Amino acid sequence: MKIGVPLKGFAEFSRAVASQGTVLLKNDEKFFPLKKQEQVAVFGRCQFDYYSCGTGSGGAVNTEYTTDFINSLIERRKVIVNDALYIAYEDWLKDNPIDNGGGKWASEPWCQTEMPLTDEFVKEVSDVSEKAIIIIGRTAGEDKDNANEKGSYLLTDGELDMINKVCKYFDKVGVILNVSNIIDMSWENEKINAIIYAWQGGMEGGNAIVDVVIGNTTPSGKLPDTIATDIKYYPAHKDKTSLQNIYIEDIYVGYRYFETFAKDCVKYPFGYGLSYTEFSIEVIDYDIIGEITDNRACGIAVKVKVTNIGDKYSGKEVVQIYLEAPQGKLGQPSRKLVVFAKTRLLVPKENESITLFIPFYGMASFDDSGVTGYKSAYVLEAGSYWLHVGNSIRDNSCRTISFNISKCTVIKQLEEALAPTTAFKRMKPKLHPDNSISIDYEDVPLQTIDLAERINSKLPEEIELIENKGYKLKDVKRHQVSIEKFIAQLSLEDLETIVRGEGMSHPNVTPGTAAAFGGVSKKLRDLGIPLMCCADGPSGIRMGSGYNATLMPIATLLASTWDIYLIEMLYKMAGKEVANNGIDLLLGPGLNIHRSPLNGRNFEYYSEDPLLTSKIAAAAARGIRKGGAHATLKHFICNSQETNRRKLDAVVSTRALREVYLKGFEAAVKEAHAMAVMTAYNPVNGHWTASNYDLNTTILRDEWDFKGIVMTDWGAQMNDVIDGGEASTSNVANMIKSQNDLYMVVGNYGAEVNENVDNIAQYLQNDKLKISELQRSAINICKFALKTQAFERGRLLFGHSLRFPARIEKTYEGIMRLSDNILEITDKSQSFFFEDEGEYQLNITYSCNTKGVGQTRCNIFLNDIFLANIQTKNTNGKTITKKFANAKLEIGLYVLTLEFISDELEIKQIEFIKL
Ligand code: BGC
Repeated sequence: MKIGVPLKGFAEFSRAVASQGTVLLKNDEKFFPLKKQEQVAVFGRCQFDYYSCGTGSGGAVNTEYTTDFINSLIERRKVIVNDALYIAYEDWLKDNPIDNGGGKWASEPWCQTEMPLTDEFVKEVSDVSEKAIIIIGRTAGEDKDNANEKGSYLLTDGELDMINKVCKYFDKVGVILNVSNIIDMSWENEKINAIIYAWQGGMEGGNAIVDVVIGNTTPSGKLPDTIATDIKYYPAHKDKTSLQNIYIEDIYVGYRYFETFAKDCVKYPFGYGLSYTEFSIEVIDYDIIGEITDNRACGIAVKVKVTNIGDKYSGKEVVQIYLEAPQGKLGQPSRKLVVFAKTRLLVPKENESITLFIPFYGMASFDDSGVTGYKSAYVLEAGSYWLHVGNSIRDNSCRTISFNISKCTVIKQLEEALAPTTAFKRMKPKLHPDNSISIDYEDVPLQTIDLAERINSKLPEEIELIENKGYKLKDVKRHQVSIEKFIAQLSLEDLETIVRGEGMSHPNVTPGTAAAFGGVSKKLRDLGIPLMCCADGPSGIRMGSGYNATLMPIATLLASTWDIYLIEMLYKMAGKEVANNGIDLLLGPGLNIHRSPLNGRNFEYYSEDPLLTSKIAAAAARGIRKGGAHATLKHFICNSQETNRRKLDAVVSTRALREVYLKGFEAAVKEAHAMAVMTAYNPVNGHWTASNYDLNTTILRDEWDFKGIVMTDWGAQMNDVIDGGEASTSNVANMIKSQNDLYMVVGNYGAEVNENVDNIAQYLQNDKLKISELQRSAINICKFALKTQAFERGRLLFGHSLRFPARIEKTYEGIMRLSDNILEITDKSQSFFFEDEGEYQLNITYSCNTKGVGQTRCNIFLNDIFLANIQTKNTNGKTITKKFANAKLEIGLYVLTLEFISDELEIKQIEFIKL
């Protein structure tokens, strides 16, 4: 175990990945790659202040170092960087440092003020340098959506002024976008030769983008999202403040909308991206394999030959195949991505033959109304189907393949689940006689099943409680005892305790991580149930304790690689690093769909397209497992925006849920056997996801055969599993009824004492919750535990008291002594004399006043040794006392140091209780 020691080679590999996720959108007159000894002037403060990640829990990875663009460029010595401009920025930045919003949660601005430029200065620079590169940076994140405002989705006046002036004096201009999300592109003009979406490439991102611009890596990224000419054309772009978000665009998300209804509103199409070389793609052959069924081995195999037809650069190409299905009765998008593959690195004139396989299941559509005669089934309607092969959704240079289906064929019959109860109309294409399509609307089918009947008819059988027979969890592993017999030993109190996770920064697991769960009481641990640990997040391990880890590129960049094997390898390293840190579960990947470019957490998610999301997410989950840890698929489902994320009801048809929003999760469960899922904060069709039975049981477990654990998001709310209605954080009984197994989180050591005052006991008493439902979740948790390193280890990682040597001084005169072993906190650094050697439990008293749902933290050191990390949300005016650590102390001098990230947390006292 190497806690806080980043995995060797991981950062270097993430650099290679970051450069391959770079998307080159424009490259007139071969602006990139820069040539040897070319004179280059770099504008924009983000050349120094590179954004390596977005904000919130999906960022905040502590790294040993980060890289920036300009210094990486200079180090490479290929081009001559304009000195005067470099120095001007360097000087200006001294007086204009990064504004981090004061370190408070979600307070970092979306962008930083640009250095003002005068005409004279830009002209002077242009007299020396031939080419100009402009870097524009943006960030966003958890609890901080983007906005259609200057400085977020739109450029600021300062940035526009910079572009205008640079374009005025330079003949050759390239723009690099160091962004967490797609941004408005209306500033593009004909004087700009080149544009690169470099995204945010993690700690090695500065090096990675330089690899591309100097030609060490040929860009091979493709857009995972459609870039429209204006934000107003995205169908989901609308008022975000109401508490019901009606998904009227239905399945027409991203390119499914644009290619069907609004082709002219696209600036850069989905799947698009240039290379330094060129490729030809030829369809060699295709074959229909097997019957038209849901068997994953049945479908169409297409063999293509990809040739690098350039003569200078090696490169990789992405073959993409889009389905054009007959409009039929259901209505269809004009194009739907059904398979893709990336070549290996091809040298000029080299070719590679690839066979791509499209299962029929991946082509089918979900009939949620029964209009085809098959309600709640995946079907292929009768008619002519076309497969378009190319290197973007708009590439028509290749042969298309067509085939016919003579009658509507059921691919998979399912049952109605998760249907809306609010009536609304959804988008549907209207086909005109001249084959043109316009937007029409139809009523969305509403829920017809009886949820109460469904839940009650599937109640698990109760296992009779028995006294402790001494069975341990390892006996289950050795097949000496059944899991049911083992669980029978858990008393009602144990069953209540085990479904509560504790955190953040639990003292008995890796410091600074998000939660501990499973063996959260001594009694549970005595039964051999390990205390497991989970940590954020999609871009690497976030340890609030300040320990270092590797910061990977953001998820959107990873999806832009369109390279499943590369991503699997990257996440395998992530899995190893997670395991090396004593962590069982990474709280990622995030795989929500980019419904709108304004979702602040889009950077944690992959794409607007469910297939690209599916393949990359499955690769991530597989990789993490191969590395020795587990992935947690989040946020299940429809976290389409951050504003009002805890209350906003996603009102969505089951067709859109099945074909778009659930797809990635389905693939990661079915193809990669992911073992953990985190539900979202929001309700979907009236039920908060953490108490949504159809989501967590009917679909996830009964249909997809998921065998793992489901946890809530941190401090989530639940409502009634049958009647819906109001939600609360204490309604954990309804969470259990839906088979969301774990409530994340109550305070540390709060599970056994029901610190959150949840309603499990009350529901059991009234028979509104069955013991068997609690036992079902306890079984899920224990079965999962068997697959963790915490179980293999068989002991607490941080159960013992650390020794803190005292400083021995000649005299202790004038040094404060503790009265009643209580240290009142008056300063960020305090010395005191400790008089009684021994082992102590440290109880810390604090209060916290963060805004809204924000969180903050503080690291505590004793004689420069890490003692504890407090991570907390608002304590709502209450002063809280909690056990934070055990420590062995000596007689002598101690210096206590507190490292706060904001002034919202007040630590009042530390009490040393002798053990
Ligand atoms: C986020 C999750 C994260 C959790 C633990 C929540 O606020 O939504 O994505 O994993 O915190 O940090």
